[in-house]
Amino acid sequence: MNEISITTTLQVYDDISELSPEIQNLMSSAVEVRKNAYAPYSKFNVGAALLLDNTEVVIGSNQENASYPSGLCAERTAIYYAGAKYPRAKILKMAITASSQNQVTDKPIPPCGACRQAIAEYEIKQDQPIELYFMGAEGKVIKSSSLANLLPLLFDNSVL
Ligand code: THU
Repeated sequence: MNEISITTTLQVYDDISELSPEIQNLMSSAVEVRKNAYAPYSKFNVGAALLLDNTEVVIGSNQENASYPSGLCAERTAIYYAGAKYPRAKILKMAITASSQNQVTDKPIPPCGACRQAIAEYEIKQDQPIELYFMGAEGKVIKSSSLANLLPLLFDNSVL
């Protein structure tokens, strides 16, 4: 029997003001679009903003449905929108913010597993890492220099 040890290193910032103006702007776009979340069921608003290598910023917020599984997370709304609108552009950075309508969300909210899988697909497609930054409504921000850090042993197209 052998063991595989998996380690991940992420950067934790105490506040968004510690990050570059570029990331602060991208996070501001995510905060802005978070307000457009359609979340009458979970009362949990999520916003995502992507910076592309063509300088465009593509945004997304979660969109829920009375048939719960038919809804879509903010991150996938944004990444599929980017793929549909700018199919040849590379995604450089992604900012994510989440805010509960019921309580203060002051810790970083990471992308869910399904979103990690979806983001991984685009990282592989473009053969370039996507930098991720995620936070709640306030407080600490976590940076991951690549989606791969968040999804070890991912399922990819090399086995198909
Ligand atoms: N949600 C996201 O938008 N992104 C995630 O990564 C996790 C969850 C949304 C889905 C649903 O509308 C609400 O948050 C509660 O799960």
